[in-house]
Amino acid sequence: MRVVPPIRKGSFFRQGSGINMSGERETDPIRQRLKSDGYALLKNRAVKEALNICSKLGKTIRHDDVWVDPNSRAHINSDCLLDFHTDHSRAKYIAWYCLKQSSCGGESMLLDSYKVLDHLREYEIKSLRKIYLYQHFVFEGDARSWPLLSDVDGAPQIYYASWLIDSVDQRKREIRKLNRLLNLAEKIKIRLTPGDFLVIDNRRILHGRGEIKGTKDRHLRRFWLA
Ligand SMILES: [Fe+2]
Repeated sequence: MRVVPPIRKGSFFRQGSGINMSGERETDPIRQRLKSDGYALLKNRAVKEALNICSKLGKTIRHDDVWVDPNSRAHINSDCLLDFHTDHSRAKYIAWYCLKQSSCGGESMLLDSYKVLDHLREYEIKSLRKIYLYQHFVFEGDARSWPLLSDVDGAPQIYYASWLIDSVDQRKREIRKLNRLLNLAEKIKIRLTPGDFLVIDNRRILHGRGEIKGTKDRHLRRFWLA
């Protein structure tokens, strides 16, 4: 069994190339890309730079190490394929900084929900707005359920994970159609390598991950930004 090293408090923040990058000058183009494409991938970035970009994009409400831990049942510690979903509704953006990639598998998968919602009729959208999914209690005051579709400042917002939809709603025609469209939708596959920094709009882009194979020593740092 692989021994997962303990998290050394602050160790991530001490790493980096020492390059004096404020991240400030890049924030606007990243925001533009997030608006147009729903995601932005930055290659070969120092940790310091990634952290600065995070701080410019929003407030970090949670950060986690994403690695394989056979002793954990958490999704972020699993090596299995993870189907498309969004994270917690409070996270406006999710950012991942890649510290290490496994020798095989572990590809990040993205799916733009806007392209799927375009194929739904107005009455189907209306019905989907009435469907609430289970939400994990992570932050004080969290609602135990959250609407699959809602609007924030005029922009559609999706909250989705097939395993968080209750069994009655699973059988509804509009959910079955949504699932069908998601299966058919174009997927973006990104294999992160050390130094890559990926940011997505969590209220638009669904994400998933291919099975982690090979050395299984993949290590990402994930940030939830609000
Ligand atoms: Fe996730």
